[in-house]
Amino acid sequence: MKQYDIAIYGLGVMGASLGKNFISKGFATALYGKSEAERERFQAEGEFAVFQTEEDMVRSLKSPRTIFMMVTAGSVTDEVMERLIPLLDAGDILIDGGNSHFKDTQRRCERMAKEGMLFLGVGVSGGELGALLGPSMMAGGDKLAWNACGNILEKIAAKTEDGYCCDYLGKEGAGHYVKMVHNGIEYAMIQVIADMYSIMKDGLSLSQEEITRLFVEWQNTEVGCYLVEIAGAILGKKDADGLPLLDKILDVAKQKGTGSWTLEEGIARGVYIPTITESVFARYFSAEKEMRKTGSQILQAKTETISLENHGEKLRNALYLSMVACYAQGIDLIAKASEVYNWEINLPLAVSLWKEGCIIRSKMLPDIQKALEKSSKNIMLSEEFAVVSKYEADLREIAVIAIKAGIAVPTYLSVLSYYDNCRTEKMNVNMVQALRDCFGAHTYERIDMEGNFHTDWIGGNENENE
Ligand code: 6PG
Repeated sequence: MKQYDIAIYGLGVMGASLGKNFISKGFATALYGKSEAERERFQAEGEFAVFQTEEDMVRSLKSPRTIFMMVTAGSVTDEVMERLIPLLDAGDILIDGGNSHFKDTQRRCERMAKEGMLFLGVGVSGGELGALLGPSMMAGGDKLAWNACGNILEKIAAKTEDGYCCDYLGKEGAGHYVKMVHNGIEYAMIQVIADMYSIMKDGLSLSQEEITRLFVEWQNTEVGCYLVEIAGAILGKKDADGLPLLDKILDVAKQKGTGSWTLEEGIARGVYIPTITESVFARYFSAEKEMRKTGSQILQAKTETISLENHGEKLRNALYLSMVACYAQGIDLIAKASEVYNWEINLPLAVSLWKEGCIIRSKMLPDIQKALEKSSKNIMLSEEFAVVSKYEADLREIAVIAIKAGIAVPTYLSVLSYYDNCRTEKMNVNMVQALRDCFGAHTYERIDMEGNFHTDWIGGNENENE
């Protein structure tokens, strides 16, 4: 009987594409999908080794068996695992390529370890086309599993001249964590582009043609990235009646949750990620369509018509600075989590996996990698991104335009606050501390003496050392 190198479990859009990718790279690939319709659809496409039962699929594999699960993240992954475990032997490997929560991955590593089996949680980015032609893959979990099958995974991944966009980032949920933050950055970059579109359309009253032209032009500059590229294509797309299709899309954004998880982690780790936060809330708030409709009638703002000299360059510079801030926030979160969870994530390696294949690939990633190779400090403070201080004035001018025009551009305002906070040695929270101490005797520290102090702010004038 033919022995297969790897099996794909799950023949939805992503699983089917990954399966075809493995086959095209010369791997003997066994395929299985729970639904008969999925299996039939795949079989009808050609000479694929689609198995009709889980048992047959498992039996067809070389030892140690490697099964790549591409199923809906959440309870389905657990159900599939529990069905497969009795069919497997010690040393066999399960890979989860879904957008799983990193804590689930940690739990699944432990579950598999109890059986003497190995588990890898792999964040896969790049959508359907990426999965087919070469995704970015962020692996975490059992190092032994990576040692056994990492070379197979690398072969189907995207590639740059420096190597594969696939590597092992650390134990437990490290890979899925990096993928989660990738998605948080993805949400932020998407909203930055959407806010830029508002400024151009409603603030500066640029025509759809001019907005499209600028996005297309920017793709060939330092701000070039996959999302700017597809934004240019989207802006130029016309509906059957010749009008922009974009204008006909309902302004209610959906999400599957990875952006919110990033936000929850930002809070749990105490890492300042304001632009990711605003982008997550922009999606939630977009659902309040009725409230916004009423608000548009009641809260009518006084707006100004604005013009901006040399707008193309200034808008681009503001976009660039904002994109850097999105990456900076996400990378700082990964760095903090790696410390807290003891994952020892190699930051330059992690960002190098984003250079091709994934949704947040961009021209600035090689410089981000270079900056992180020298130091793990915030990339905005690196010499590679010294240019952000030159672009700051343009970002400020763009933010003012939005403010005067009465347009909500939360990502730009958040980037500006982020930037200003990052360059503020002395923040204003001495006032916060004083207020807390005044109403709740929460105490404060001083800059000129050691200790914790409480003051009777309203009554007497004497300080008390706690
Ligand atoms: C990727 C994407 C992908 C994600 C979609 C949709 O890297 O290929 O991050 O994994 O599922 O972008 O995410 P939302 O539905 O949450 O926007």
